[in-house]
Amino acid sequence: MKSFYITTAIDYVNGSPHLGHAYEKVLTDVIARFRRQMGDKVHFLTGVDEHGQKVQQSAKVRGIPPQQFADEVSAEFRALLPKLNISNDDFIRTTEERHKKVVRQVLQQLFDKGEIYKAEYQGFYSARQEQFLQEKDRNPDGSWPEIYGEVTSIAESNYFFKLRGYQEWLVQFLTKNENFIFPRFRQKQVMEFLKDPLNDLCISRPRERLAWGIPLPFDEDYVTYVWFDALINYYSAVADQPGVWPAAWHVIGKDILVPPHAVYWPIMLHAAGLPLPGGIIAHGWWLQRGAKMSKSLGNALNPLDLIAEFGADAFRYFVIREMNVGQDSEFTREQFLVRYNSELANSLGNLVNRTLNMTARFAQGVIPAAGLVEDPEKELHALWTKTRDEFIPLCEGFQFHTALEHVMGFLTATNAYIEKRAPWKLGKSAEPRDQELLRTSLATMAEALRLGVALLEFVMPASAAKINGVLGYAPGNIWKDELAWDGRLTGCKTAEALVLFPRPQPAAKPATPS
Ligand code: ME8
Ligand code: MG
Repeated sequence: MKSFYITTAIDYVNGSPHLGHAYEKVLTDVIARFRRQMGDKVHFLTGVDEHGQKVQQSAKVRGIPPQQFADEVSAEFRALLPKLNISNDDFIRTTEERHKKVVRQVLQQLFDKGEIYKAEYQGFYSARQEQFLQEKDRNPDGSWPEIYGEVTSIAESNYFFKLRGYQEWLVQFLTKNENFIFPRFRQKQVMEFLKDPLNDLCISRPRERLAWGIPLPFDEDYVTYVWFDALINYYSAVADQPGVWPAAWHVIGKDILVPPHAVYWPIMLHAAGLPLPGGIIAHGWWLQRGAKMSKSLGNALNPLDLIAEFGADAFRYFVIREMNVGQDSEFTREQFLVRYNSELANSLGNLVNRTLNMTARFAQGVIPAAGLVEDPEKELHALWTKTRDEFIPLCEGFQFHTALEHVMGFLTATNAYIEKRAPWKLGKSAEPRDQELLRTSLATMAEALRLGVALLEFVMPASAAKINGVLGYAPGNIWKDELAWDGRLTGCKTAEALVLFPRPQPAAKPATPS
């Protein structure tokens, strides 16, 4: 079995989770479930980033100790996971001893190798991004880009990691591994960034300025810079599990690609003598009227509200169907409702109901065997073969939005097939040929539904289980074996009805401002 380790970014616990965090979990879960059904041995890690100035400040505003604050907010992030049906194997908090131990080991090792030195730091700091900034990070007019929030000037003695010495190595590595970062255009941006000389990385903050961090093992007057601490989570969580590292893929947002994940992290690993991960997947942002949804901007949507109203599967479906991985997407309730109504309620929900209704009405709730296979059936079979054959490569290339579009196309075609065959007319006829066609149409719609659902399962696991349940069907363990059109539902006893995606009641809900 191939080992496949996948991680999300670990979220800052300075405020409640929002739609952007929920999306990243769902995207990672969809990849994890896809790899599992492809037969890989998946290990899926997510967690929270609890140290740093931002969390210390938020705790101070609440007037409670940072650990207590982190405990509370971390619990919120953790509680979101089962609500989204996330299949993570582990959850890491950077305040856990298993993590702090490995961070101290890596620091000590780099210090002993002479990769870390002490010097005066003169520069600027963005607490919102937990990032050291330089003059070159300013806008042309001298102001700081909005994403940094409040920027403070600092001058203090600190420890530095010799990043610059590895610049050439990193350029060569990325040149050799041109698919290290998905999408490709992001890797090109990293190469652009590496055209300027790197500065060594400041990896400490004096304890009197920032107490909330991991003390440096070689100088307890300092705590570790939060990014140096946080990145190591991917390794610390599995350091004692043989065979997991380095078959790793990191799913992150585009805002934390350069420099932390694409520059610091590979260099940290290489300098520490550890193998590099398999790759990085950088997704785009969910926007609200053109602006990044964020805690700091106060324009964030709470995913829990959408889950409460529409269910986890509808939320998962929408974000995966709507967003092209790597691009940004505007989130609007209107667009959510369009997809919910037309794709989930109409295409899928209707097919489920028609299949159940007609099997009950015309076949006593037992799926018949297909008899005649004529052009309408042949066309649908051919569309299935094409849909299935394109599906796996699309998912392997993270083109989930297109993969789902094709599945919906197949379900829509199945509904059109039903219109064409009109089983309700065939049911009124006593002609043997019409009776044969009636059985064929019932078998065909049930089989098409089963197959479509097999392709939707990793995005909508709960709905898939319910649909298989009402079809009286229990899928086998090997997913690829489920994708054959072979009439295996013959004789299955169906349920009477299933309401999967009830129509929302827009009048009862406040409209979002537009
Ligand atoms: O950056 N749309 O934490 P974070 C899509 N602790 N994704 C979004 C988003 C949006 N509007 N807003 C945030 C951190 N994200 C660090 C990570 S990893 C070792 C340390 C994504 O809470 C963001 O891009 O600010 C990131 O991948 C994740 O949410 C956590 O963001
Ligand atoms: Mg952020």
